[in-house]
Amino acid sequence: MGEFSGKVAVVTAAAGAGIGQAVARSLAGEGAGVVVSDAHARRPYSVAEEISREYNVKAVGIQCDVRDRRQVEAMVELALKEWGRIDILVNNAGIDRPVPVWEMDDETWNLVIDVNLKGAFNCCRAVLPVMIRQRQGRIVNLSSVVAWTGGREEGAAYVAAKAGIQGFTRAVAGQVGEFGINVNAVAPGLAYNPFLSRVRPPEYFEEVKRRTPLGRAGTPQDMAEAVLFLCSDRASFITGSCLCVSGGWFMY
Ligand SMILES: NC(=O)c1ccc[n+]([C@@H]2O[C@H](COP(=O)([O-])OP(=O)(O)OC[C@H]3O[C@@H](n4cnc5c(N)ncnc54)[C@H](O)[C@@H]3O)[C@@H](O)[C@H]2O)c1
Repeated sequence: MGEFSGKVAVVTAAAGAGIGQAVARSLAGEGAGVVVSDAHARRPYSVAEEISREYNVKAVGIQCDVRDRRQVEAMVELALKEWGRIDILVNNAGIDRPVPVWEMDDETWNLVIDVNLKGAFNCCRAVLPVMIRQRQGRIVNLSSVVAWTGGREEGAAYVAAKAGIQGFTRAVAGQVGEFGINVNAVAPGLAYNPFLSRVRPPEYFEEVKRRTPLGRAGTPQDMAEAVLFLCSDRASFITGSCLCVSGGWFMY
């Protein structure tokens, strides 16, 4: 019996190399049934298969772009068909397009805002009626330290969306607390994964390490631990908060 046995979790963007998959695996490792949702056409299915095999739980994959309301609704329907309930939603999907603001076109701005911010809205809108009926639920939204720090390397749309996620988290937490639903955010510093080394130069990682009191880059698993804590009974009196997981890169 794991800490999340009997619970059902929906994790978006859960088929990549980073935080989403680490969260899905960690929840499954603690006994949760998991919906592995991701915009990728094939990987959510293969990752779900691996998860069920490795952790001996039910895991189902679905291709779902969080920008698309219909696809998000289909994701929720799948969870209800398979389990009849949803206890945990992790809004992990997020992308950055680091273009200087004066060169950013409308498409880039809209893409980044839609994936990071509207995606979380779409998923909360679709999942909350289920959680309200259950009188119970946990939602964790992925923000970022850049919501506080800004930064030269990040796109303005990404920083705005991640700050927006923190406000959105507080707004939803205020609306659904009376139904026994906790809504929190996690703000990672750097969660290193091999994919990132293809889009960032080596100096970026050295600089983050230098600025981090704990002296190393974070890992997807570091972030997953924080997400699991916020989904656990140990965090039952925490809502509307944002947990910064950055090794001290940013402190507040
Ligand atoms: N990695 C970091 O250092 C870091 C730092 C701060 C915040 N974050 C935030 O943490 C979250 C996870 O980031 P990660 O880097 O660990 O990546 P990840 O591996 O968790 O996510 C990548 C996956 O996202 C999927 N995806 C992309 N667009 C999507 C969409 N529209 N709908 C559904 N899925 C989509 C991709 O197919 C890919 O599989 C993001 O919200 C990110 O902004 C990450």
